[in-house]
Amino acid sequence: MNIAIIGAGYVGLVTGACFAELGVKVVCVDNDTDKIKALNKLKIPIYEPGLEDLIKRNFRQGRISFTSDIDRAVARSQVIFIAIGTPPKDNGEADLTGIEKVATAIARSMTDYRLIVEKSTVPVETGSWVKHTIEINKKKKVSFDVASNPEFLREGRAIHDFMHPDRIVLGVESKKAEQLLRELYGRIDGPILMTDIKSAELIKHASNSFLALKISYINAVAKVCELAGADIEQVAEGMGMDKRVGRAFLDAGIGFGGFCLPKDLDAFITISRKLGYDFGLLKEVKKINEFQKEDFIRRVESRLWNIKDKTIGVLGLAFKPDTDDMRFAPSIDIIQILQRHGAVIKAYDPKAASRAKKIFKGVKFCRNAYEAAKNSHCLIVLTEWQEFKELDFKKIKRLLKHPLIFDGRNMFSPEAMEGLGFKYVSVGR
Ligand code: UGA
Repeated sequence: MNIAIIGAGYVGLVTGACFAELGVKVVCVDNDTDKIKALNKLKIPIYEPGLEDLIKRNFRQGRISFTSDIDRAVARSQVIFIAIGTPPKDNGEADLTGIEKVATAIARSMTDYRLIVEKSTVPVETGSWVKHTIEINKKKKVSFDVASNPEFLREGRAIHDFMHPDRIVLGVESKKAEQLLRELYGRIDGPILMTDIKSAELIKHASNSFLALKISYINAVAKVCELAGADIEQVAEGMGMDKRVGRAFLDAGIGFGGFCLPKDLDAFITISRKLGYDFGLLKEVKKINEFQKEDFIRRVESRLWNIKDKTIGVLGLAFKPDTDDMRFAPSIDIIQILQRHGAVIKAYDPKAASRAKKIFKGVKFCRNAYEAAKNSHCLIVLTEWQEFKELDFKKIKRLLKHPLIFDGRNMFSPEAMEGLGFKYVSVGR
């Protein structure tokens, strides 16, 4: 089968590479010609474990190609996935102008039946708009279908998640669309859920918002633990042992970031309001997420007394480990506020430094954690990279001006840290 994927971003590249690996002929399309040139030279624009190897192998075997020519891609592909970004507008709504442009371009290039699949995260009812847009822009009298196939992969584990999904959601409105998508996804080991298009669109927003809700819930419980003198790790473990609750996404910390959870939460609040429902619960989820960062800063400042001209070593900048993605990372607000209050920041991240350099002004970027610790008044952990677990904390203690660590990700055991002679402050314990 030949397929086209419009949008060579995170979701597009992973989807393309994985389908190619499964024997499908894939063309990835992007209007960013520099990105396409780089991809044709096998320069991968994002860091995702395993992705580079997958793209290189399938490129060399002729199963994946890259182009900016949408007409040619549509001409040779029976199924066309739209995987372009839907960034948030100032009012929290998803910006769908890109989707409309792509739908128009597909419509103008279609010469035969095509199945157009929304893979980007879009608000409910986008499928109807895509259908309408294609209908009014198509040049030839050809039939087509629209389907919704939301993606649930996590950055850092994207290939595994794509190949072994908990579920594959396919929102369709014709037998032909169902058959084509079953043929494609039959290659993947995961249960298929067939729904109507609107329900598929809603499953994505409702799932991401629920994950955000779980994180904010545990963060609120963590605050109560702090006040009561209980331990959030033990509480989360006890809650998670109930299968109905589950242990996943009950890690307390400085809150959720990334390009998905915060923006999808906003978009879901906005679309619900537009449909006539005030989703107050989700507004509170957002508020708690902001509070986590403010509260962390407050705790750092209250221990350092005067923050002006104090040096803070930062471990981890990416919004989570195993990615170089800095979008909506909690580190951005935390570092910028500490800087505004006069702190000097020295930071280290194993993968995100080059992206972070474009965001932060006046931050000294270090080559390793020890350099970040050297002569700093304290250390703050903002991303739980595995390599931080393996640090020599005796050395860190010698390098720091004061043995003081604020752990925004609860990476270490308080007893072990205190045993090493640190004043160790974490979240909810
Ligand atoms: C999220 C969803 O998990 C995916 O299922 C979805 O496909 C994706 O969004 C998307 O819409 O494309 P992702 O943004 O890659 O995936 O990252 P997550 O692993 O969900 O983490 C999001 C944020 O929550 C991170 O900042 C992480 O540190 C934080 N988090 C996660 C916590 O603070 N506590 C937890 O227990 C779990």
